[in-house]
Amino acid sequence: MRKPKISVIGAGYVGLCTAVGFASKNYNVVACDVDEEKIAKINAGIPPFHEPGLQEKLSDCLKKGNLKGVVGQTERVILETDLTFVAVGTPSKPDGSIDLKYMESAVCSIGKALKQKDTYHVTIIKSTVVPGTTQNTVKPILERESKKAVGKDFGLCMNPEFLRQGSAFQDTINADRVVIGSIDERSGNVLEDLYKGFYSTRLPTIIRTSLSTAELIKYASNSMLATKISFINTIANICEQIPGADVKVVATAMGLDKRIGPLFLDAGLGYGGSCFPKDIKALIACSKSLGYDPELLDSVEQVNKMQPLKAVMFCKDMLGDLEGKKIAILGLAFKPDTDDMREARVIPIIHQLLKEGANITAYDPVAIPVAKSIFKNQIQFADSAINCLKNADCCILVTEWPEFKKLTPEDFIKNMRQPVLIDGRRVYDPETFVRKMTFVALGLGQSSN
Ligand code: UDX
Ligand code: UDX
Repeated sequence: MRKPKISVIGAGYVGLCTAVGFASKNYNVVACDVDEEKIAKINAGIPPFHEPGLQEKLSDCLKKGNLKGVVGQTERVILETDLTFVAVGTPSKPDGSIDLKYMESAVCSIGKALKQKDTYHVTIIKSTVVPGTTQNTVKPILERESKKAVGKDFGLCMNPEFLRQGSAFQDTINADRVVIGSIDERSGNVLEDLYKGFYSTRLPTIIRTSLSTAELIKYASNSMLATKISFINTIANICEQIPGADVKVVATAMGLDKRIGPLFLDAGLGYGGSCFPKDIKALIACSKSLGYDPELLDSVEQVNKMQPLKAVMFCKDMLGDLEGKKIAILGLAFKPDTDDMREARVIPIIHQLLKEGANITAYDPVAIPVAKSIFKNQIQFADSAINCLKNADCCILVTEWPEFKKLTPEDFIKNMRQPVLIDGRRVYDPETFVRKMTFVALGLGQSSN
C-alpha cells in the first residue's frame, strides 16, 4: 500500500520534529512555514533550534529526498498531500487566553485548497488548542472556505503532541500514548492507520475520542505535571523552615509510592518553556469563560511565579545590598538540552538582580545567542562555566546542564571572590559543599547549612 503523503503547516519545534519523525520512517513530507529564514535553514540541513540528534536526522531525510521545506504555498502543498498536520504557534494573549490568529490563518488556507481538491484529505490539529476550538473555530472556517462538509467531503482530527524539548525523538519513537480525537469515524481511522504504519510493532496505546476530549487531554496532562512541580516546590519551601529537612529525600521517598511516582518531583526554581506557563494560563482562562474558576491551577501558577525570586532573596540574605555585587549565573535555557528561553526562570531572576543594582555574568552551553537578543548589553556573557565564576560574589545555578554537575567546591573557591553558591536545581551534594563553602540549596532546612 502506498504511504500517505504528509504536509506539516508550521515548522516550529513541534512541526519540524513531527515532519522529521515521519520523514525518518520514509514518509514523503513537506514542511511549510511563513518564515523564509527558517525554511532556508531547514533545507540546508540546519535545525533552526537546538535539539539533540535533530541535525543528523534532518540531513538524512533531506539526502533521501523524504523531506522538503517550503515558504508559504499552503494551498499547493495541501493539493499535493493526503494528510496535513497543523502545528502553528498558539500563544497567549495578554489576559492569558489563547490567541488563535495563526491557527485561523493556516486553516483558512487549508479550506481554500480543499475547495479545489477532489480526493479525500484529513486535516489534523496538532497545536495545543483549548477545548472546543477544533469544533467551533477550525471546522466552520474549513467549511466556509471549502464550501464542503467536514465528515463527508474531508476529514478532521485533533491529535495532541506530548514532545519534550531535548528528547523529542525519544518521545516520538517511544510515545506513551497516541490520542486521536476525530469528528467522525473515517477521519479517525485514517489517522489511526497512519500511526499503525509509523509505529509498526511498537504501537503505543491509542485513545480514540471526541475532538474536545483530545484537546483537554493535552491541557490536563500539562496541568498535572505543572501541579506536581508547584506541589514539590511548596514542600521545598516548607522544608526550608524545618532544620534538617531536605526536599530531595522527601521527594525520593514519596516517589517510591507507585500511586505518586518519581517523575516531575524535582524541586527548584519552577517551570518554564513554551508549554506549561502558556497552557495553564489558557486552561484557567477557558475554564473561567465557561463559568468555573479553577482555583487549584491559579495556585500552581502563583507558586511558580514566586519560585525564581527566591534565588534573589537568598542572594540578598547572604550578600546584603546587591548594588555593584558581581553575580555569576550558570544556565539560561528553560531546561538542559535546549537553547529555548521562552518563559525561562532565569528571566525574572536577572531582571530583579538588575533592579537591585547587581552586575551579572552568565554562561550557558547553547543559549547565549538567544539570551543576547533578550538582555542585549545589560549583562555580560562568559565563554565557560569557570570564566563565569571569576571574581563573582555569588553564583546562582539556574539550569542543571550536565557540565555544571561536574563542578567541585574547589572550582568555586578558586575562581570566585567569595565562594557563595545558590543551588537552584539541587544538583550538588549538600554535605560536600556545606563543609567547604557558603552553600544554600532550595528546599534544604537551615541546620544542614
Ligand atoms: C506550537 C504551539 O505554540 C504549541 O501550543 C503547540 O502545541 C505546537 O505548536 P512550537 O512548535 O514550539 O509550538 O511553536 P513555534 O516554535 O512558535 O512554531 C510555530 C511555527 O509556525 C513558526 O515557525 C511560525 O513561523 C509558523 N507559522 C506561524 C506558520 O507557518 N504560519 C502561520 O500563519 C503562523
Ligand atoms: C512539556 C511536557 O513535558 C510535554 O509533554 C509537552 O508536550 C510540552 O511541555 P517541555 O516544556 O519540553 O515539555 O519540558 P519539561 O521537561 O516538561 O519541563 C518543563 C519545565 O519544568 C522546565 O522548566 C523544567 O526545568 C521544569 N521541571 C520539570 C521542574 O522544575 N521539575 C521537574 O521535576 C520537572
